[in-house]
Amino acid sequence: MKALVLAGGSGTRLRPFSYSMPKQLIPIANTPVLVHVLQGVRDLGVTEVGVIVGNRGPEIEAVIGDGSRFGLRITHIPQDAPRGLAHTVSVARDFLGDDDFVMYLGDNMLPDGVARIAEEFTTHRPAAQVVVHRVADPRSFGVVELGPEGEVLRLVEKPAEPRSDMALIGVYFFTPAIHEAVEAIEPSARGELEITDAIQWLVTSGAYVRASRYEGYWKDTGKVEDVLECNSRLLDGLPRRIEGQVDTGSVLVGQVVVEAGARVLRSRVQGPAIIGSGTVVRDSHVGPYTSIGRDCLVSDSRLEGSIAMDEATVTGVHGLRDSLIGRAASVGTTGRGTDHHCLVVGDHTRVEVAA
Ligand code: G1P
Repeated sequence: MKALVLAGGSGTRLRPFSYSMPKQLIPIANTPVLVHVLQGVRDLGVTEVGVIVGNRGPEIEAVIGDGSRFGLRITHIPQDAPRGLAHTVSVARDFLGDDDFVMYLGDNMLPDGVARIAEEFTTHRPAAQVVVHRVADPRSFGVVELGPEGEVLRLVEKPAEPRSDMALIGVYFFTPAIHEAVEAIEPSARGELEITDAIQWLVTSGAYVRASRYEGYWKDTGKVEDVLECNSRLLDGLPRRIEGQVDTGSVLVGQVVVEAGARVLRSRVQGPAIIGSGTVVRDSHVGPYTSIGRDCLVSDSRLEGSIAMDEATVTGVHGLRDSLIGRAASVGTTGRGTDHHCLVVGDHTRVEVAA
């Protein structure tokens, strides 16, 4: 089996971060979402991976390279524009050949793994096997109606009136039967070739399509709130690991990771939390549920439930919560009294200050 990982989407809901980085490289517990996805693929025993990239291809390639770091062989496959999930299958036609493959959206996190579902696919070998999860509001997903044996009766992309609460969650298993379906469908109302429509084409043509329920934790990391929630969830599972320098004036409580080359001075780190290599935390209180990237400075500050990406600086700020701070961004005080704020705010940025 091969894998097709999709990392071409533009990420408008993740502005301003997606202006300067592909959304698939947003760090969750200091590791890019896409790397979590690739680790999930490797856990299935798959080593041949095609990664679909758009105009951000070079940045993605710089991070994941040829995949050897993860025990994978990665082929980077360019897509000229985001023309839909089914379009990526036809773009990858030569790479996929006549092999079965798992298609995995590069911004969806399923940390509990889909190994059991992959086994079901191999055992039953339907034309396609989709992975579904019960969601509160299915209207923004592909929605599946199931028969009693888990067979798929009908799929609809983002229905206004969903007939089930079973949503497609970004992982699909296919036999080569999908290629004919992808060639047969027409673009949807949003102008994209929908994989949901291709799978429906298989169902309509009488092919056996099944669904498996994923019962674990799942998150589409498309919005800031989702990124922060997913970060908390992944930090919760990190074992304590102290490799950097922690002075005697500091206290580390619970599941804390201090990477090699990081320094924690006169500070309290409340786990779960991770401090990246090259970062200095001094006279501060960090955590719980906080990831500080590499080469950051956190000084005389207090932050929790937050992510600071690489090279960010936080100084003199005492109530940062649920915040996502971009690469090399700086958050600090004006040093000119307490009666005003001084902001340099980029496009589509959100700032919320205490009332
Ligand atoms: C895509 C699929 C949809 C699926 C969702 C999962 O939606 O088209 O069927 O439920 O991913 O994240 P999109 O993110 O393109 O809106």
